[in-house]
Amino acid sequence: MTLKLDGKVALITGSGRGIGRSIALKLASEGARIVVNDLDAEPAEETVQAIRAASGQAVACVGSVSAPDFAERFIGTAVSEYKGLDIVVNNAGYTWDNVVQKMTDEQRYAMIDVYLTAPFRILRAAQPVIRALSKAEGEAGQRVVRKVVNISSVAGLFGNAGQANYSTAKAGIVGMTQTLAKEWGRMNVTVNCVAFGFIQTRLTASTADAATATSRAARSRWASTPGCSR
Ligand SMILES: NC(=O)c1ccc[n+]([C@@H]2O[C@H](COP(=O)([O-])OP(=O)(O)OC[C@H]3O[C@@H](n4cnc5c(N)ncnc54)[C@H](O)[C@@H]3O)[C@@H](O)[C@H]2O)c1
Repeated sequence: MTLKLDGKVALITGSGRGIGRSIALKLASEGARIVVNDLDAEPAEETVQAIRAASGQAVACVGSVSAPDFAERFIGTAVSEYKGLDIVVNNAGYTWDNVVQKMTDEQRYAMIDVYLTAPFRILRAAQPVIRALSKAEGEAGQRVVRKVVNISSVAGLFGNAGQANYSTAKAGIVGMTQTLAKEWGRMNVTVNCVAFGFIQTRLTASTADAATATSRAARSRWASTPGCSR
């Protein structure tokens, strides 16, 4: 049986848990070979094993997407392991909330790093690989369509109290998405953004660790955001 994504290579950041993990499992179930990333080695490896247990193919590229050398390593893993690059999902991240008067520069830049600089570097590193593949395919008379999906949030579209940092970054990724959609159409790459409402994951769980999760209060604020789907 031929699957929809047979032969495709998909890279998904933050796919050790939550939404990224679900995306990885879904794309693998459709036949894609997956480059799994997470900051934490254990959940990344767990996703890889879950894909392999279901007869799929996956490899882990562990590390922070915010590390300056990460993008080259991530794209390099896809090329060296699977000789291709078809789908990139920029999903990794966390929240570090506070009201603006109490938000530090560190808190603000952490969100910019993980949600804006990291996807920018990953897509910048992907471009020469995609350009070369697309050129070769064009010369062979083939037209292969590739996909980039950047994960935004309703907080980036409508704002969310306590998330000046997160909402700024999530709004920024919309602009970068629209620009790359215009730059990359010529390489047959569709570049899109998905802006989720509230989804129950570790990111939205109530926890004492303010650097990793939003609170229950944030959850109810989010749910009441105009246009928010639950
Ligand atoms: N859950 C929601 O309600 C919701 C709503 C809107 C948008 N989002 C977005 O969806 C994406 C996924 O969130 P989730 O809810 O699945 O969260 P999650 O916490 O369940 O999963 C996120 C994963 O990203 C990893 N990660 C965090 N920082 C990283 C880094 N620097 N490098 C590599 N990996 C890193 C974490 O270890 C974790 O495994 C995020 O971009 C988030 O902003 C989530």
